[in-house]
Amino acid sequence: MVGHVVVPGDKSISHRAVLIGALGEGETLVRGFGRSGDTQATVDAVRALGVEVEDAADDELVVRGAGLRGLRAGAVDCRNSGTLMRLLTGVVVGQDGEFTLSGDDSLTPRPMERVAVPLRRMGAEVETTEGHAPLLVRGSGALRGIDVEPEVASAQVKSAILLAGLNANGTTTVVERVATRDHTERMLEAAGARVRARATSVTVEPAGALRLGEVVVPGDFSSAAPLLVAAALVPGSDVTIHDLGVNPRRTGLLDVLERMGARVSVFERRRAGGEPVASVQVQPGELVATEIGADEVPGLVDELPLVALLASHARGETRVTGARELRVKETDRIEAVTDGLRALGARVRSLPDGWTITGVPARLRGGRIDARGDHRIAMLGAVAGLSSREGVAIEGADTAAISFPGFYELLESVTRR
Ligand code: S3P
Repeated sequence: MVGHVVVPGDKSISHRAVLIGALGEGETLVRGFGRSGDTQATVDAVRALGVEVEDAADDELVVRGAGLRGLRAGAVDCRNSGTLMRLLTGVVVGQDGEFTLSGDDSLTPRPMERVAVPLRRMGAEVETTEGHAPLLVRGSGALRGIDVEPEVASAQVKSAILLAGLNANGTTTVVERVATRDHTERMLEAAGARVRARATSVTVEPAGALRLGEVVVPGDFSSAAPLLVAAALVPGSDVTIHDLGVNPRRTGLLDVLERMGARVSVFERRRAGGEPVASVQVQPGELVATEIGADEVPGLVDELPLVALLASHARGETRVTGARELRVKETDRIEAVTDGLRALGARVRSLPDGWTITGVPARLRGGRIDARGDHRIAMLGAVAGLSSREGVAIEGADTAAISFPGFYELLESVTRR
């Protein structure tokens, strides 16, 4: 694994650029848009609600904003994207008319009361289907600002509340004891909203108008993660990823890699579009086990399956706890990782909220892994394939395109020497 690469634009930031651009005045130019199954669902969603989006290039969009209360009522298929469904709920509660939000077989069973409950407290009418999608929202012009501490540490829930707060009367404050990704608050501030972010809370005031102008989307840290972990595991590797988003609320994996003994260097630090960006280089080291608890989880929530793989190659027993949220991602990632890595020869035991993983003396044997329709599990399988003795066959490998079309080609480009 040797090379210098860039990865597609950040998925979380791309979703937000389209949604906030749709609520804005005039044109928003989104550069470095991370086009994928999930972000395309967001583009199609705002189009279904009357917003014009021009595909200027594969990684460039122009969103012609409809204004803060200008979306047209309608039905949206959020497909596989939990981020879209939750953020869009916060957007449409403040619009006029009725909205139906549905999703695919992976999204439908995921919990939606976590957004419905706080939004109802704001005066919104949100009906779930026994706690799940499809959702029916009757928009209201009379939302109230609230102070709320969501039941789970979730950037999606926080973002839904903040977006609803733009169209509310009075101030909206979300308290979070464990910090989650803050892309929404950064982008709202860039669009001219009055946002105050503190260590454990964020406040938004009702907005008159938003104007984003231009968003430059950095590379997606979560898409870089499989390459970084592969570089830590495959002997002789030296991989550098450039123009990468290194928002400190996203880069928990770098701390874990360093703690476990990989060689990590972050350089060429700068800011782009209100977000920190850098180049990140990873080389292998002698890996040792580590402990990860609830406080660290939001900073690497989507990377935890990869951490389980790292731990399978580390000396000692690694314990990951406080990650019950993994059970309600695109699939139950606790069980998918336990079954998947065990089938490759790893020693993994599932806990209600994580795993214990004991490193195996040599490399993993390899075998077959079922992605279970989950993009992160498919990419985990590919990295496990590179670090194993016999390679890994991935069932449902195509699902990687939900977040990262071109993933296998990019991985191959640094694998061939
Ligand atoms: C996301 C937040 C996280 C993450 C997801 C994207 C976001 O979910 O797992 O992939 O863009 O806000 P939660 O907020 O549910 O933890």
